[in-house]
This record gives sequence, C-alpha cells and structure tokens, in this order.
Amino acid sequence: MPIVRYDTFVERYGLRGEQIQAGTEDLAVLSGRSDSSITAFRNQEITNHLAVTGEEVVLDVGCGDGSLLEMLAPQIQQGFGTAPTDAEVQALTHAHSNPHLAFRQALVQELPFEAEVFDRIICNGVIQHLDSRGTAQQALRELARVAKRGARVFTGEIPTTDEYVEQTMRSKSLLGWLAWRWRVQGKRAFLQGAFDLARATFTSEPFIVITQTHFYCAPSEWIEMARESGLHCETWFSSKTLNRAGQVEPSKTRFDFLLVKR
Ligand SMILES: C[S@@+](CC[C@H](N)C(=O)[O-])C[C@H]1O[C@@H](n2cnc3c(N)ncnc32)[C@H](O)[C@@H]1O
Repeated sequence: MPIVRYDTFVERYGLRGEQIQAGTEDLAVLSGRSDSSITAFRNQEITNHLAVTGEEVVLDVGCGDGSLLEMLAPQIQQGFGTAPTDAEVQALTHAHSNPHLAFRQALVQELPFEAEVFDRIICNGVIQHLDSRGTAQQALRELARVAKRGARVFTGEIPTTDEYVEQTMRSKSLLGWLAWRWRVQGKRAFLQGAFDLARATFTSEPFIVITQTHFYCAPSEWIEMARESGLHCETWFSSKTLNRAGQVEPSKTRFDFLLVKR
C-alpha cells in the first residue's frame, strides 16, 4: 500500500526537490499546484501589486518553481528566491541560470539576510504550511526585518479554514482517522476516506499522510499580526485563481494582503 507519510510540509517539498534532481518530477511540482497555468496567472496577479520600476531588489520567500522571479527578472535590479531545503535550491539553481537571480536555502521564520535589504517581498502560498500562530507571527517579524522602509510585502493565499483536513490525515492510525471522519465529517466523508484508502491498497495511487497541522486565520487576525510586526496593511482581497474551465474566480477561503513597512 503506497502510504506516504510526511511529518512536515518542508519534508514534503524536500522530497519533491530530490525527485526533480532524479529526473522523475518536473520543476513545476514545487509550486504545489497541479496546473502550471494557475501559477502563471498567480504570478501576473502578484506582479500587478508590486509596482516595480526597475531599481528594486526583490525577495520571493518559498519561491516554488522560481517562475515569478524569472518573470520579474527583466524589470528589477536583483531577485532572490528561497526554498526550505537544499534539494529544492539545487533544482532551482540548475533550472534558472539568469545572472539577476540567486537562490538560497531558508525558512520564512528564519531568513538568512541582513535587515532592511529588500524593496519588494513576496510570500505567496507559504504561510499555510506553518505549524502554529507563533511560527506565523515569527515569519511576519522576519519579513518585516528584511524589508526596507516603505517596501511592499505581498503575503498571499492565506487560508481562513483548515483546507488540508479533507485531503490529509493527522493521525498515526488509519482506523482512528476513518473513525474521526465518521464522527466529525459524516458518512459521505467517511466513505470517501475508505475509498481513498482502498484505492491506495490495490493501485499505485498513493495515500498521503501529513501529520503536521497547518496555519489559517481570519483576515482581521492576519492584519493585526502584521501590524504587530511593523507591517501596515494597505489593501486585502480574496485571492483570485483559475477554475477548471480556466475562468478567473475569487477564492472563498484564501486572501491576499498587500503590506507596507512603515
Ligand atoms: C504552495 S508552494 C507556493 C510556491 C510559490 N510561492 C507560488 O506561489 O507558486 C509552497 C512553497 O512554500 C515553501 N515552504 C514550505 N514551508 C516553508 C517554510 N517553512 N519556509 C519557507 N518556505 C516554505 C515550499 O518549498 C514551496 O516552495
């Protein structure tokens, strides 16, 4: 039974980095999305809020496949991307030979940069991978620390609900997880869970077990946490994405925040 267990999201992305190096996966898997047209759409959305003029030093924290930086490279002075594991950094460095770009290993809650270096910072689709409010607050402090005064800091796709609970299992016991689904989520979710497990037993389709919780909060809470870290929220809105038909759709559960360091 291909039951694949990850205790942290960092571990999960690190394994993806190793698969890219081994040639069994494409760089696009580092975006965490099944469709790279959504990543291209998100990149454009984010760029629209950055207002770059050509002079900026830009940091993309948890830069996924590096495509946002590649897109920005002709319009900025220098771009830095971070990923939490060496395997991802090696895959990114190999794929992007642009002299205006560099990649470093880093966690968002512990950035290896001097204070007040960056004019623009992007941290999109990353915060939900943190394990607690405390870690998320530490991440905001780090983003604020490395931002120059007046810098724009785009934090995107912050979820308001535990989206992963449907797809993942945070228990060491499969039966315990099925019992939890029956009790908390009802018969339909239980049957879906039983089906997913049966499929993993009899086919090569893996059943992914993630034991780490993920961070989510109300928009008002994120704005207050940012303010406590020295980042003022200029504007916030529902994250736009593409639906299955390729049409633009505002997310019901994820929000984007354009913050400015005062
Ligand atoms: C869903 S992908 C988003 C990638 C990219 N920002 C985008 O929007 O296409 C999540 C990214 O967060 C990174 N990541 C996961 N945990 C992290 C952490 N604690 N600190 C920094 N990056 C992290 C992953 O390596 C991955 O690049």
